[in-house]
Amino acid sequence: MSTDPGAHGQAWQRRRLSSRTLIWDIYLTLANKVAAPLRSGHIVPAGAVAHAADGRWTGFQPPRPGDSRSACPALNAMANHGILPRDGKNIPFPSIISKVHQTYNFSETFVYFTSNYVAHLLGRSYARDTFDLADISLHNGIEHDGSLTRLDVALAPDQGVPYPPFIRELLASATGQDPTTGEAILTPTDLGRVTARRRVQARAANPQYSLANIHAKFSASNSTSLLRIFGGKVKDLEVMLLEERIPDGFESSTKAKHGLTMFSFQSTVKAIDSAIDEDAAAREMEMEMRKGEKME
Ligand code: HEM
Repeated sequence: MSTDPGAHGQAWQRRRLSSRTLIWDIYLTLANKVAAPLRSGHIVPAGAVAHAADGRWTGFQPPRPGDSRSACPALNAMANHGILPRDGKNIPFPSIISKVHQTYNFSETFVYFTSNYVAHLLGRSYARDTFDLADISLHNGIEHDGSLTRLDVALAPDQGVPYPPFIRELLASATGQDPTTGEAILTPTDLGRVTARRRVQARAANPQYSLANIHAKFSASNSTSLLRIFGGKVKDLEVMLLEERIPDGFESSTKAKHGLTMFSFQSTVKAIDSAIDEDAAAREMEMEMRKGEKME
């Protein structure tokens, strides 16, 4: 145990922060159970930045040279629409809470917890300091190897740029079907399978590959947002992940009044996590390779 009173104080503060946030999150989860869900067409609040009354997401501009972008497609898209500063720089930590909540209907507890976590990782004051989007790509902070939308940092130091071949592979893996529209959707099993394949590929391609348990957990949590916020809809995710643009007509698949809480997304995190089987993926990929060699 540390004898440094400063370090002890910080650790205590972190624990206190976590338990307070957890209680707040459980409260919102319960409040969501009694409140009427938001109606389709009313999930994004009227007057939200970059959201027109007819459901279009306005003001999209791709990043310009010198703009700061992160490994997170959802935050980048917000900057591309001017919901966050377009240059992605000098963002006060607390300022993203209501913006992320309004745009994606993630609970404020999730955004509060995540942005606080980033401030701690960067050694900055949550209340007083700011961050650039690129700062949150700190390797093995939240950012990790084996992502679904980026090459590993050892192979692609600029994590602000998506890697289309991985995204296309992800979208092509969809086996589900939207019961109303018949459109292709990703399922937890699809995400488990594609994540396992990505990890096998990353392990082989990146001599510095690592994935601690906490990062495997972040990986499944990020994938959860693909299902619980974007409904796994391939058509929307194509726009979101390849262009980092919020598709017109998009509104969160989570209709709960207080948004998707950390507590309520755990069931999906577990479903994805338990569908990740790296041994099976390695066998499958080896067979595909042998088949490819035979055809040559
Ligand atoms: C609230 C603040 C947020 C922070 C600090 C944050 C941070 C990050 C980071 C660092 C990554 C890179 C992880 C990796 O290496 O794969 C990431 C990826 C991702 N995030 Fe976020 N994020 C936030 C909010 C969101 C929201 C609101 C959504 C969805 C609406 C979201 C969806 C995703 C997705 C889909 C990925 C891609 C995962 C991959 O490539 O495998 N994030 N995020």
